[in-house]
Amino acid sequence: MRILSGMRPTGELHVGNLLGALDNWVKLQNDGNECFFFVADWHMLTTGYEDISKLSKMTKTLVREYVSSGIDPQKSVIFVQSAIKAHAELFLILSMITPLGRLERVPTYKEQLRELSDREITTFGFLGYPVLMASDILIYDAEGVPVGEDQTYHLEFTREIAEKFNSIYGPTFKIPKAIFSKVPKLSGTDGRKMSKSYGNVINIDSNMEEIKSKVMPMPTDPARVHRYDPGTPEKCNVWYYHLAFETSKAQLDYIHYGCTHATIGCVECKKILLNSMAKKLEPIWEKIAHYKAHEEEIDDIIANGNEKAKKNAEMTMERVRKSLNLL
Ligand code: TRP
Ligand code: SF4
Repeated sequence: MRILSGMRPTGELHVGNLLGALDNWVKLQNDGNECFFFVADWHMLTTGYEDISKLSKMTKTLVREYVSSGIDPQKSVIFVQSAIKAHAELFLILSMITPLGRLERVPTYKEQLRELSDREITTFGFLGYPVLMASDILIYDAEGVPVGEDQTYHLEFTREIAEKFNSIYGPTFKIPKAIFSKVPKLSGTDGRKMSKSYGNVINIDSNMEEIKSKVMPMPTDPARVHRYDPGTPEKCNVWYYHLAFETSKAQLDYIHYGCTHATIGCVECKKILLNSMAKKLEPIWEKIAHYKAHEEEIDDIIANGNEKAKKNAEMTMERVRKSLNLL
């Protein structure tokens, strides 16, 4: 299956992005799908056009985190949206058949306008976010698009606009499907929604000291006031971290018994979690360190990926221009 997905370069990725999205991408890649993963830097401009000082740096950082997390440039095409100008051409063409009212009715549009009310984003570009996203997807004939639930409406828009195009101009685009990750959402270390602005996230590019300082104070089941008070792991965020970071079955059994019978304390439980987290993250840290010391390798990966992406995008555009009877 042809797979495509991307993220905006809005800052460092956290473990929620890793477990909820990137791990799934890696799995799709290793299952033998034909994968395209990109950095949606033009999309970042739709809300962040005023603060572009770190944009190119963040784009490279995101690619570094993709490859360090297991996206393999030998298997997947890794590229940068703004390098493939054909996305903009398709965006323009799709905009011709996109009713304004349809964009205004995208539920996340009004929501974001409200949430980001401190920014002036009543712009043409921000309203057109889903059109640009549709271009990203349709230009690669993507069949499956792994995204978070928050992107459901964007995918729905993409399907609709592709169908509309096909019905006016004849069959041109494949109709893509969203692929949702089956992993339950992990909460932040304080139990609230994971969010950079709450300071409750653990970045992928982190270290054991930092992780310790976030994990050890994590709230636990409030029933466990004293070491001898039994608790319920299912009422404890630490437990869900154990599940997410794949603490071994034997250790999970030990923790579950120990918690419900008050034979282990929360400190011990958290130390086991630190171990599981180290197991998952240390190989990623090694790669991050490698690429920090060899930035030119990231540049090469981007250049190679851009070239492959361009070829694919250009093939689709020839089809599109023909469908539209453009000279
Ligand atoms: N809108 C996506 C997000 O914020 C990023 C994105 C842009 C994307 N274009 C895409 C995702 C195409 C999948 C396919 O997460
Ligand atoms: Fe949570 Fe572990 Fe403490 Fe039980 S022992 S309350 S699962 S931290």
